[in-house]
Amino acid sequence: MIDQRLVTSSATHQGPGPKWRLVRRRLSSLASRCMSVPFQPQKYIAANVRDIPRSGIRDFFEIVQGMKDVISLGVGEPDFVTPWHIREAAIYALERGRTSYTSNLGLLKLREAIAVSLQNHFQVSYNAKNQILIAVGVSEAMDLAFRAVINPGDEVIYHEPCYVSYSPSIAMAHGVAIPVPCRAENGFAVTAEAIERAITARSKVLVLNFPTNPTGGTMTRAELQRIAEVVQRHHLLVITDEIYSELTFEGEHVSIAALPGMIERTIFLHGFSKAYAMTGFRIGYACGPVEIIEAMMKIHQYSMLCASIISQEAALEAIQYGEPDTTEMREQYRLRRNFIVKALNEMGLECHLPRGSFYAFPCIKSVGLGSKEFAVKLLEQEKVACVPGVAFGPSGEGYLRCCFATSLAQIQTAMERMATFVARLGRTPR
Ligand SMILES: Cc1ncc(COP(=O)(O)O)c(C=O)c1O
Repeated sequence: MIDQRLVTSSATHQGPGPKWRLVRRRLSSLASRCMSVPFQPQKYIAANVRDIPRSGIRDFFEIVQGMKDVISLGVGEPDFVTPWHIREAAIYALERGRTSYTSNLGLLKLREAIAVSLQNHFQVSYNAKNQILIAVGVSEAMDLAFRAVINPGDEVIYHEPCYVSYSPSIAMAHGVAIPVPCRAENGFAVTAEAIERAITARSKVLVLNFPTNPTGGTMTRAELQRIAEVVQRHHLLVITDEIYSELTFEGEHVSIAALPGMIERTIFLHGFSKAYAMTGFRIGYACGPVEIIEAMMKIHQYSMLCASIISQEAALEAIQYGEPDTTEMREQYRLRRNFIVKALNEMGLECHLPRGSFYAFPCIKSVGLGSKEFAVKLLEQEKVACVPGVAFGPSGEGYLRCCFATSLAQIQTAMERMATFVARLGRTPR
């Protein structure tokens, strides 16, 4: 701190007096000391961000990208190109000069089409004017939901193994992530009882994801009903991520938002990435109570402003006319699922039948390697890339996520290579 009296008294003198010279000396030595300390950017990173680990999947796939002839069953992305009429809608939007911002909530005509589709397919009713927000993928919608409702220290419960973003997104919103580990013996299904056991006085939100990434699990109406009762008894808010709902192979997809008393306490998230093979368009949406959508909109308004109008025009085409494409892709995924599950079981890696999504989640415990070690060796020795189960939380250890959103021919070759690898491990004494 500079002593103000020294500065003002020196100003009244003709030349710099001894006190002023002393101040100058001190200031210049302080300045040179400051300059000699190298700038340390890491010290400027917020603690809650610094403590978040990098995505294990991304790191792994950076290695994969540098390798030749690898078959990737890794990244959860459709191998189909976006159907042509949807791409055409984007091109046509550009041709018409549709290059402006949209309303912060997104194009009204898209929100209206979403409201109709949700009523028809999910039996949930939302007002397009103030209960639907178009976001940059479910990723952004999820982030907005967490940031809109979490106060520091609030607990957010979710079932695990789960999508890799939940825990970091909760931490970035200053919440406390509370995983409910699910057991393989029960097909990784989360039970109402397990959720209830995780509830404390700080619990505020329950995150659900069905069909589940990475296990492919789904929920029956009765199971969801039991969870809804727990949620209501403990006054929780639900964030439900239903991005894989169109990729349900067995039974009906039920949204918890459609159950009695739930729509008013649920933020429903959905998007276009998986059902319409539109990952690069980056369009998702959130639906919920007016007050919560308004709060999410404020964050979106100041951070993202709006989703791309071109992508929104394409999404409108998808939701209005894309259902046959989704049906066709789902049937392709079903064939691949049946093939991969059979192949995995035949090579001795026990694998349940995923009822939805495009992931098989075989158990690798029988071969005696951890999931990371298995994935790395499989990649090095046989050039097949899968995601270690532990990337989805500790309860995913002992499993491997194999994404079957790739051609049947590729899956066939990958399974041959994997069978060779597993057989070799069986012959290697450990
Ligand atoms: C469960 C789940 N939710 C959300 C996302 C992100 O979707 P989007 O592309 O809409 O951001 C993914 C992507 O893999 C996912 O698996």
